[in-house]
Amino acid sequence: MADWLAALDRGAEQRAAAGLTRTLRPRAADDAVVDLAGNDYLGLAAHPEVTAAAATALSRYGLGATGSRLVRGSTDLHHALEDDLADWLGVDRALVFSSGYLANLAAVRGLTQPRTLLVSDAHNHASLIDGCRISRAETLVTPHADVAAVAAALAAAPGRPAVVVTESVFSVDGDVAPLAELHAVARRHGALLLVDDAHALGVTGPAGAGGVAAAGLAGAPDVVVTATLSKALGGAGGVVAGPAEFIRHLVETGRTFIFDTAPPPAVVAGVRAAVRLARDGDALRAELADRVALAVRRLGAAGLSVSAPDAAVVSVTAPGPEAATAWAAACRDRGVAVGCFRPPSTPDSRSRLRLTIGAGVDRADFERALDVVVECAAVSAPGSRAPQSRTEEGS
Ligand SMILES: Cc1ncc(COP(=O)(O)O)c(C=O)c1O
Repeated sequence: MADWLAALDRGAEQRAAAGLTRTLRPRAADDAVVDLAGNDYLGLAAHPEVTAAAATALSRYGLGATGSRLVRGSTDLHHALEDDLADWLGVDRALVFSSGYLANLAAVRGLTQPRTLLVSDAHNHASLIDGCRISRAETLVTPHADVAAVAAALAAAPGRPAVVVTESVFSVDGDVAPLAELHAVARRHGALLLVDDAHALGVTGPAGAGGVAAAGLAGAPDVVVTATLSKALGGAGGVVAGPAEFIRHLVETGRTFIFDTAPPPAVVAGVRAAVRLARDGDALRAELADRVALAVRRLGAAGLSVSAPDAAVVSVTAPGPEAATAWAAACRDRGVAVGCFRPPSTPDSRSRLRLTIGAGVDRADFERALDVVVECAAVSAPGSRAPQSRTEEGS
């Protein structure tokens, strides 16, 4: 075997020995598994109004956008979605990207000038971390949700441009960042605040407008919001939202905007329908909150170590990576898909199951799935045999 392939094999063996193998498994359209692993928080991915809007656009515009936004890819649907998102989030302007990952890369890079200091929460998503990396700015990683550490970092860099980078609802444990406090500290030091609202959009805030709106910061001139359109909105794509000047800057200089084919019009049309439903979705959000509370109660009563979630992400600590894998596999065998998060997808060394709660899952199935998670916990006990693969991981 060629040397480089043998080196890759050795890497795979090391990951397997550490219980960190990752494998793909195809999901059938009629998959009957109860989904506590996906991010379709409001059940909109297959909502008839969403799929009908997408189908209509598909037949009118064709499959792809046929080009980047600045060439041929900017359909009237893209612009209408941006207006809808700006209105919902209470900002000047919004700019749609083909993924949340690319939106984050552009946002962090776009906020960086020479000598900028980036102050980044230790639990931030990989896309924010990579945004810091490609910006080539000095990046200080502060302990999770530690406002005093952020204040100290900013105080130690007087006169320098600075950006505080955080998620609103953190993707692994589902906790909410202290956004109002972070904003106050940032403002006191003349710094900007960049918030990734991926897990909050549609789920928290007035009319589901997300964590920034919930913190009373919608439209603040020193705040930039990013989000994915793939979670509560059930589609695909990403958005950067904020002052019009910043959006113009991204249109003219954002590499992941300029050099990327625009998201497909059918997806954009489906997401527009999902935005309408999400804005109108207080009943769905109430059901979601009720289910999250039930999950925390039921798992906690069974003696499991459960996070205190503020949105729809619930994490349950596993004894280690192999135990987490075994636990998730046992759930899967009993018809329940759960997320399995192990290093390096976790911000600390802890492995967890991550349950993402969806209002669209049948209520009785959801309650049964919680029982399955509890009953399968035994396989993760130290000493039980753990399979080496089969995980659901990601974001
Ligand atoms: C917090 C957070 N930010 C950004 C992303 C990336 O979004 P996308 O999947 O649209 O690239 C994810 C995951 O999908 C996420 O969880």
